[in-house]
Amino acid sequence: KNSNTIIIAIDGYSGCGKSSTAKAVASRLGYAYIDTGAMYRAVTLYFYRHKVDHLSKGQVRKALTSILLEFKFDEATKSSHIYLNGENIESLIRQMHISERVSQVSTIAEVRHFLVAQQRLMGTKKGIVMDGRDIGTVVFPQAELKVFMTAQVPVRALRRQKELEGLGQQVKLSEIINNLEKRDLIDSTRQESPLRKAEDAIEIDTTDLEFEEQVKKVLELMKEPQSM
Ligand code: DC
Repeated sequence: KNSNTIIIAIDGYSGCGKSSTAKAVASRLGYAYIDTGAMYRAVTLYFYRHKVDHLSKGQVRKALTSILLEFKFDEATKSSHIYLNGENIESLIRQMHISERVSQVSTIAEVRHFLVAQQRLMGTKKGIVMDGRDIGTVVFPQAELKVFMTAQVPVRALRRQKELEGLGQQVKLSEIINNLEKRDLIDSTRQESPLRKAEDAIEIDTTDLEFEEQVKKVLELMKEPQSM
């Protein structure tokens, strides 16, 4: 094991480029990459399919006992895909109807405890880049490097639209903006571990950054002694 390996936590609003940046940083460092948003989306898909009433604690608890999440490396796309009870759901969870429901599901304390416990286990070996909303504040408050990403809404919406296009879905910009703003509000005002910048996180505004610049910024921060 390499003693230089650390935990990198990347948090921020939806569509700021967290996942793509985190993925690239991980691949260049030979680290594992965990997309925690995919885990909340997977639970949302399960609740949707099984008509779980998210307001019923009993139904939520019971459903969580039937959910097995795994990440497996996909050779074709050279990236990790999320599996729900053995099924590859990587592209299913990016659909708009899941994006519309996921923030609600993410407010449920039982769901958060269930997922945070699994996320912490994934970090025990370090050498990991994890992105989400509460990684630097709740999951790994001891992370050696914390990044908080921001970007202006129109830029974020355009990026989301392009991502969805890549999945074969044409969605109107106004619909995407609406969804982003709604999720920002729910994510940052919920009672249970709301989205906020950790005190020791370093903010990166990606509004005017090219993808490659974003990746470089994070890699450069790793070299700064005060962040280790
Ligand atoms: O990163 P994303 O857009 O795929 O995340 C989807 C939703 O999941 C997001 O709106 C809020 C929730 N989420 C969360 O509450 N905590 C995390 N660590 C990651 C995501």
